Amino acid sequence: MKKYGVNELRRMFLEFFESKGHLAMKSFSLVPHNDNSLLLINSGMAPLKPYFTGQEIPPRRRVTTCQKCIRTGDIENVGKTARHGTFFEMLGNFSFGDYFKDEAIHWSWEFLTETVGLDPDRLYPSIYQDDDEAFNIWNKEIGIAPERIFRFGKEDNFWEHGAGPCGPCSEIYYDRGEKYGCGKPGCTVGCDCDRYMEVWNNVFSQFNNDGHGNYTDLIQKNIDTGMGLERLACVMQGVDNLFLVDTIQNIMKHISQITGVEYGKNEKSDVSLRVITDHIRSTTFMIGDGVLPSNEGKGYVLRRLLRRAARHGRLLGYNEPFLYKVCDTVIKENLTAYPELKEKQEFITKVIKVEEESFAKTIDQGFKMLNGIMDSEDVKVLSGEDAFKLNDTYGFPIDLTKEILSEKGIKVDVERFRELMKEQKKRSRDARKNAGADAWISDTTDLSDVANTEFVGYTDLKSTSKVLAIVKDGVRVDSIGEGENAIIVLDKTPFYGEGGGQVGDTGVMESGSFSADVDNTTKNPSGTIYL
Ligand code: SER
Repeated sequence: MKKYGVNELRRMFLEFFESKGHLAMKSFSLVPHNDNSLLLINSGMAPLKPYFTGQEIPPRRRVTTCQKCIRTGDIENVGKTARHGTFFEMLGNFSFGDYFKDEAIHWSWEFLTETVGLDPDRLYPSIYQDDDEAFNIWNKEIGIAPERIFRFGKEDNFWEHGAGPCGPCSEIYYDRGEKYGCGKPGCTVGCDCDRYMEVWNNVFSQFNNDGHGNYTDLIQKNIDTGMGLERLACVMQGVDNLFLVDTIQNIMKHISQITGVEYGKNEKSDVSLRVITDHIRSTTFMIGDGVLPSNEGKGYVLRRLLRRAARHGRLLGYNEPFLYKVCDTVIKENLTAYPELKEKQEFITKVIKVEEESFAKTIDQGFKMLNGIMDSEDVKVLSGEDAFKLNDTYGFPIDLTKEILSEKGIKVDVERFRELMKEQKKRSRDARKNAGADAWISDTTDLSDVANTEFVGYTDLKSTSKVLAIVKDGVRVDSIGEGENAIIVLDKTPFYGEGGGQVGDTGVMESGSFSADVDNTTKNPSGTIYL
């Protein structure tokens, strides 16, 4: 078997499906477009949903992609095991009302056995329990013996992820050999152990789930396939786990070089190396797609990943910001498929560095507090107040606090924490509402280059405007993240600024995927309007 690299396998897959009449499209952004059901793109089909449902016309009815994906459901296990990761790339070929089961199954087999040359005797298909059509294709057309075809129920062989297109599926497992097995009697395809690894998923996407478990037929029958690129690389390179495949191993090596800690010497430091390796991949790509650290939504996921990685840097005994350096290797290893990362390199590095530096200022005090709690015999539950202090003063995202304390069996009063967060938000909203323009912008914020705002509200309720300045916590910034508060100055606006007893306008500001609630408006004596 030839040992193909990650970049080579990605190219081979896309070229194979191009040769079958597919249009190879670039990976879509990790940030979903017009899809409130997802925080981040989590599968190859997710950005293509409107093509499956027939809502939008695809550029071609056969499409192939290698899609950046993030899944954080298992984040606590990332690092602890070698098989969990938050970032992965998913290879996929899609048919929107074009070919169906027959071609999909034939091509998956052809790619695995001929193009990359996997041993057919090590491959086992599974099908949805009563899908005799798929059974017959595997058995009669491909020639797989009936006892090698496994029938599984809805839990294993019906693919759906919340709301949207879904359907029964047929997967392909690769037998990695006895040494990966659990050795238990009955260990076979479908066993939880590491021996039989699912590499390919052919989903026969023919239903739509409304998100509440109600299924309706889609207007067309589709194919949605998915194969984890890193998984395929593990198989092809004969390595145990995703952290050992070529490009990812190079990222880990860079971390080892900086921290002086080698992989494979000690289980505890291996956990930290895996956490950092995985999280620097996800965060580099997230920032590349425009996500910024914040306390809510995607920004919170990003902050949590970066701070979790920073903590593991400390656990390796490395006390300086360093993640921003490792992102160079992530970019370098992924350049062929994602050349745009190069253009954004400086920006990505800056965002990571600022976040690391800001956490570095408080991380030691936060650890002191947490260690005190963990050393005390009496604490079984951390109070909401302490969790709030760790978050607000020391920058420990609640989930990080929970994770660290769970290592000692200590729980956190999350409900009280959430109440305190809500109260804090209300306090800051009220403070802004009740204060005049002076309290909005401090004396030290230099807005001398900003022209006075043209007020167009006497004739218009909407306007297309240019952002002249963004001020956050008294400082001029270039951008803000999801869930963050800031003051925005525009060249013109229909929002009336509070003054002389009148009330400031409220409303919405939008641009592309950006949207902000304007909860008050004020103006300074010279006529600059602050939103
Ligand atoms: N949607 C399926 C999956 O994610 C196949 O692409 O496995």
